Amino acid sequence: MNKHQWIMGIETSCDETAVAIIKNGREIAANVVASQIDSHKRFGGVVPEIASRHHVEQITIVLEEAMKQAGISYRDLDAIAVTEGPGLVGALLIGVNAAKAISFAHSIPLVGVHHIAGHIYANRFVAEMKFPLLSLVVSGGHTELVYMKEHGHFEVIGETRDDAAGEAYDKVARTLNLPYPGGPHIDRLAHQGEPKIELPRAWLEEDSYDFSFSGLKSAVINTVHNAEQRGETIAPEDLAASFQASVIDVLVTKTVKAAQVYDVKQVLLAGGVAANKGLRAALEEAFKKLPGIELIIPPLSLCTDNAAMIAAAGSVLFEKGKRADLALNASPGLDITIHN
Ligand code: KG4
Ligand code: ZN
Repeated sequence: MNKHQWIMGIETSCDETAVAIIKNGREIAANVVASQIDSHKRFGGVVPEIASRHHVEQITIVLEEAMKQAGISYRDLDAIAVTEGPGLVGALLIGVNAAKAISFAHSIPLVGVHHIAGHIYANRFVAEMKFPLLSLVVSGGHTELVYMKEHGHFEVIGETRDDAAGEAYDKVARTLNLPYPGGPHIDRLAHQGEPKIELPRAWLEEDSYDFSFSGLKSAVINTVHNAEQRGETIAPEDLAASFQASVIDVLVTKTVKAAQVYDVKQVLLAGGVAANKGLRAALEEAFKKLPGIELIIPPLSLCTDNAAMIAAAGSVLFEKGKRADLALNASPGLDITIHN
C-alpha cells in the first residue's frame, strides 16, 4: 500500500513555467522552474502574449522533467494542485489546462490554488505552521499582511493602495537603468551604498496596516530627474540604499505592530521580495526582540515563483477536502479571502 501522499503542483501565472512533486506535504521530490526572464528583459517587463507562448512551449517538457526527477508515475499521484489565479489569464490557462488534462487522463483529483496562498505555504518546507499566524506577502503584484487562524483561512488585514513592493523595486530599477527584474539589482546596490538621501515613508492612518509605494517611487524618479537637470550625479548605490531603507522601514514596522496586536505565534515572510537580503535581515533583527513570536523565512529558491509552494498549499487543501472539476477555469482576479 502506498502510504505516502504525492502531490503535483503546476504554476504558470506569470513568467515562470513550473512543475513540482512533493511528498507528504513538506518534502520536495522535484521542483522544476523554467524562467522566461531573458525573453521579457528587453521589454523591461512581462509581455503577456510572449508569456503564454513560452508556457505552451515549456509545459510538457517541464512536466516530464519533474516526473523524471521524482521517479514516480502518474498513478502514484494523489492530487494535482494548480494555480487558478490571480495572474495573467493567458498564462494561467496553460497551467490549468495541463492540470485538467492529466487529471482527466489518469483520474487524479484536481485542486485549484490561489497564487498567494502558494507563496505563504512555501514556509511549510521550513517549519510546520502554528496558528494564529501573520504572513507578510511581498511580490511583484502583491503587498499584503495576511492573518490566518487556521489552514485555508486567509484574512487580508492590510494591502497596498497603489504599487506592490516588487513593482516599486522594478520601476526604480528601470529609472536607474538596471535590467528587469530589478529587485535583486537594487538589493545588491543598496548594500554598497549609504541611505543618505531623504525619501518619504507612507505610514498612512495611525491604525492602518495598508501600504503605499507610489509616492516613494515618484520621489526616487524626481530625485534622479532633478539631479540630471542640475547637471549633478547621484550615486546609484546611495539612491538604492535610501529607497530600500524606506521600503523596509515601513514593511517591518507594520508587520511587527500587526503581529503584536493580533497576538500571533508565527510571522511568515512570502513572495519574490522575500528574497531581499535587507528585508530578511531587518525582520530577523526586529523579531529577535520578540521571542514569543517565531519568524519563518523561506530559502531563496522558494521565494520567487515556483510550483513546490503551490503543491504545499494544495496538499493541505486536498486534506481539507477541497476539489475542483473539469470546469476549473483561470481566474485572473481571484480573491484570497473568498477562495477557501
Ligand atoms: O513572487 P514573484 O516571483 O512574482 C510575483 O508573483 O509577482 O515576485 C517577483 C518580484 C519582482 O518584482 C522582483 O523584482 C522581486 O520580486 N524580487 C526582489 C528580489 N528578488 C526578487 N525584490 C527585492 N529584492 C530582491 N532580492
Ligand atoms: Zn508570485
